[in-house]
Amino acid sequence: MDQACIAAVLDKMDFKVFVLTAADGDRRNGQIVSWVMPATIVPQVPRLLVGVGRMTYTRELIEVSRKFALNLLGEDQWPWVPHFGFRSGRDVDKFATVPYKDGVTGSPLLPGVVGYVECQVRAALDAGAHLFYLADVLEGKLVSDREPLRLHQLSEVLPPEEVVTMRRLLEQDIPRHMSLL
Ligand SMILES: Cc1cc2nc3c(=O)[nH]c(=O)nc-3n(C[C@H](O)[C@H](O)[C@H](O)COP(=O)(O)O)c2cc1C
Repeated sequence: MDQACIAAVLDKMDFKVFVLTAADGDRRNGQIVSWVMPATIVPQVPRLLVGVGRMTYTRELIEVSRKFALNLLGEDQWPWVPHFGFRSGRDVDKFATVPYKDGVTGSPLLPGVVGYVECQVRAALDAGAHLFYLADVLEGKLVSDREPLRLHQLSEVLPPEEVVTMRRLLEQDIPRHMSLL
């Protein structure tokens, strides 16, 4: 296996950046996700597949509620990447300073996003470090029809020190995830 060759191909795959939110009673949280893909071609039965880290607080809430929302960020909404993606809701209340409204699933919906969908979990595939949730889309709205934020853009739009932090966090996670595969 030539890791560099494989990485060069995988690097060509770009993904959009979302805040995945969930709630259980008074507890609510959100985290950044990029592993989101459609899972049907049938418009009457919209489904998505979402990869969520085993250890995240947001996943803990999804496990209880079986529901979540995906808030698709616009290019200008990069400040929410460090806010929701660099620390855990176990350590800080991420919604203390961020306005939101409750969606039909009870999951927080963020203002000013490109759009959102609200989902109900149908099934989960345990892949070790991540759980892959197959979910029915119950509701959705295009809030502001503009360009979504992409993963590959982050190194250009985030301040340099945040890019350094993002890479450091990724490097730290790799051995931990490897032990779970
Ligand atoms: C650019 C970016 C993309 C990410 N993509 C994912 C992802 O697809 N799935 C995932 O579980 N975590 C992903 N993360 C990591 C989580 O957002 C991060 O672990 C977060 O702190 C978890 O928060 P929580 O414990 O409050 O739920 C990503 C982080 C960043 C910065």
